[in-house]
Amino acid sequence: MEDRDSVPARILIIDDEASILDGCRQSLEKSGHTVITTSEGPEGIRLAREKRPELAFVDLKMPSCSGMDIIELLSRDLPDIVLIVITGYASIVSAVEAMKKGAYDYLPKPFTPDQIRAVTKRGLEHRSLKIEADRLREEKERMEKNFITFVSHEMRSPLVTIQQYIETLKVIASDCFTDESKEIIDRCEKRLQNLHELVEHWLDLARIENGTFSEAKVPLSLSSIIERSIEELTPLCLKRELTLEAHLKNSLPKIMGDQESLLRVFTNIIGNATKYTPAGGKICVDTEYDDFYIYASITDTGTGIPQDKIPFIFEPFFRVKGKDERQKGSGLGLTFVKKIMDAHDGKIEVCSQVGVGTTFTLKFPRLYEL
Ligand SMILES: Nc1ncnc2c1ncn2[C@@H]1O[C@H](COP(=O)(O)OP(=O)(O)OP(=O)(O)O)[C@@H](O)[C@H]1O
Ligand SMILES: [Mg+2]
Repeated sequence: MEDRDSVPARILIIDDEASILDGCRQSLEKSGHTVITTSEGPEGIRLAREKRPELAFVDLKMPSCSGMDIIELLSRDLPDIVLIVITGYASIVSAVEAMKKGAYDYLPKPFTPDQIRAVTKRGLEHRSLKIEADRLREEKERMEKNFITFVSHEMRSPLVTIQQYIETLKVIASDCFTDESKEIIDRCEKRLQNLHELVEHWLDLARIENGTFSEAKVPLSLSSIIERSIEELTPLCLKRELTLEAHLKNSLPKIMGDQESLLRVFTNIIGNATKYTPAGGKICVDTEYDDFYIYASITDTGTGIPQDKIPFIFEPFFRVKGKDERQKGSGLGLTFVKKIMDAHDGKIEVCSQVGVGTTFTLKFPRLYEL
């Protein structure tokens, strides 16, 4: 039966048995393929490099060289080639080994013309799908890069400019403002600030996902990062009438990490604690360590997170519904935190009780410097 469904391709066959070469050639040429054959392994390698066939059959047992070595070499040199091994009776074990080295399928001897055509068709389909998947992956990466550029230029830059104009307006025209216009300006500033934070979260996530996030890990102390984040958030806590305390262990062992991204992990989690804790509440940051890990926990006396919602809080855009929704946010903060923790081989645990408070515990592998 003629098989015209597979697109004509160049097919190389490397086998020391002349009858196999002839049989394969006849079967595959009938399907419209161009067939190149050789009984010598080294010549097969040369032909594969020169003619760039879409698919190659390689006999595993040849006197002149090992089919296994040919598979290994070709799958490394020509990533788009589909390799199929021709195996003797009952040599499934070596077929499996060849597949581990890069072969896509195997054809046990003896085989019929229909069998070789079927395995060829499968192999060529697999190749087209793989090429299409690679193309889509590249397209996705390109779009993500464009997205970052678009968001930075078309959204972040105008936002910063508008914030600066409002600042200037407040300086040069504050005398002319009525109480009502002052309130409107304040609301504009808050909304802009929320939008700005959303854009920053987006950019952070997009950069992590496409691998352009700067992650320069160095030995560092978590204490100094926690101190910096507390310094950054103290004014907000004062404004919201919250107590912010840190009990940091002296000489905390170091971890391997990226300063800036870890600073944002802490400002996000402590920032959440300030957002979701009513006035008069308390936020505590503690550190601990054992032989393997460094722990940092952030505890608040806030509204808490219902148990059934905890598994979702690291999902993009997830926000617990309820009275906390009045607090502005995009639901991207913890998604970012989780990705950064993963990039540091860290773990994050949440313990929470509604109406009592929440503890986030961050666990980092301890660094042993030789
Ligand atoms: N300390 C906390 N106490 C109570 N609820 C919390 C706390 N931290 C997080 N949550 C809940 O988890 C949700 C997700 O947090 P996440 O930081 O990802 O988003 P967000 O704070 O809503 O927005 P943003 O993107 O600005 O951070 C929050 O909306 C809130 O419902
Ligand atoms: Mg948040």
